[in-house]
Amino acid sequence: MSKKHILIVPGDGIGQEVTAVGKKVLDRIAEKFQHEFTYDEALMGHVAIEATGNPLPDETLAKMKSSDAVLFGAVGHPKYDNDPSAKVRPEQGLLKMRKELGLYANLRPIKLFDELLAASSIKPEVLKGADILFFRELTGDIYFGEKGRKNDGDTAYDIAEYSRFEVERIGRKAFEAARTRRKKLCSVDKANVIETSRLWREVIQKLAKEYPDVEVEHQFVDATAMLLIKDPRRFDVVVTANLFGDILTDEASQIAGSMGMLASASIGDGTGVYEPIHGSAHDITGKGVANPLASVLSAALLLDISFGLKEESDAVINAVDQVLKAGFRTGDIADSTTPADKILGTEAMGEQVLKFL
Ligand code: IPM
Ligand code: MG
Repeated sequence: MSKKHILIVPGDGIGQEVTAVGKKVLDRIAEKFQHEFTYDEALMGHVAIEATGNPLPDETLAKMKSSDAVLFGAVGHPKYDNDPSAKVRPEQGLLKMRKELGLYANLRPIKLFDELLAASSIKPEVLKGADILFFRELTGDIYFGEKGRKNDGDTAYDIAEYSRFEVERIGRKAFEAARTRRKKLCSVDKANVIETSRLWREVIQKLAKEYPDVEVEHQFVDATAMLLIKDPRRFDVVVTANLFGDILTDEASQIAGSMGMLASASIGDGTGVYEPIHGSAHDITGKGVANPLASVLSAALLLDISFGLKEESDAVINAVDQVLKAGFRTGDIADSTTPADKILGTEAMGEQVLKFL
């Protein structure tokens, strides 16, 4: 029996709706496997700005640090997106959380459930069997370097910085993971142009000597962007810098049919944070149609990675598989052959997962 304390941080937009489902799934697991999970909730993002003026209030951060894991929704609000001059933004809370919790490794597994082959816009024969694990570095790069304006605001700059130490620690995580999978690692950079990429490649090449059983390939990011769509099955583990990882994983989400299916784990020095890769999606917020499966699968990652509960985690993934096999879909993963009565809203989809659990 495990006794664990989980912080739920729904954040903004559909984050509220989908984490409610993720939490129910954790609750069901606790009941079924006789664990004791306790919960607390905290504000972050736009809702936190509205309540406190701060996208990541100290109270939220303190609660995160003292929890065993965080189930996170999404942050963002359209009102900031077209206002480049906004000084306080929901995303600042996200970046601060990553830095403060030392979440340097962002794992984004891209796995296509067979039932969703038709939901992707990529041809099924190109897609079938694709299974990629991304390691996106999460606390360095152009995201966290010095940024600013000069020449009276007419010129802007963002500095990208990486230290050997930062590349090595994410590199090691990726090599270790490759060892437990198909033993292939693709390191993605832009070493033909960018200096941080040259350091990146140097460090990965050196690390490779310690993992002779892992086959390493170095790719330039533009080629990776192309190959992901052309031949996704060639990839096993991919490791890359923060900005490249942000972009490539949105692209790769299409391999899994929909952004609504993709979970992620952010881990590092302390508490792990588990969240869908999709955003707050204000266009569908409050309509009850958001796909909760990314949050459910994030809960599965939480059980496995932070709590070491592999059997419980597999039970959740299996339940998702069963729900899909039974033909249930949310709008984002439905296609022209899906009968209308099998297209479910957020809550009803959650109920189906609970039923199979
Ligand atoms: C993500 C998001 C964030 C990022 C945004 C919301 C700041 O796109 O988690 O991928 O760029 O890291
Ligand atoms: Mg992103």
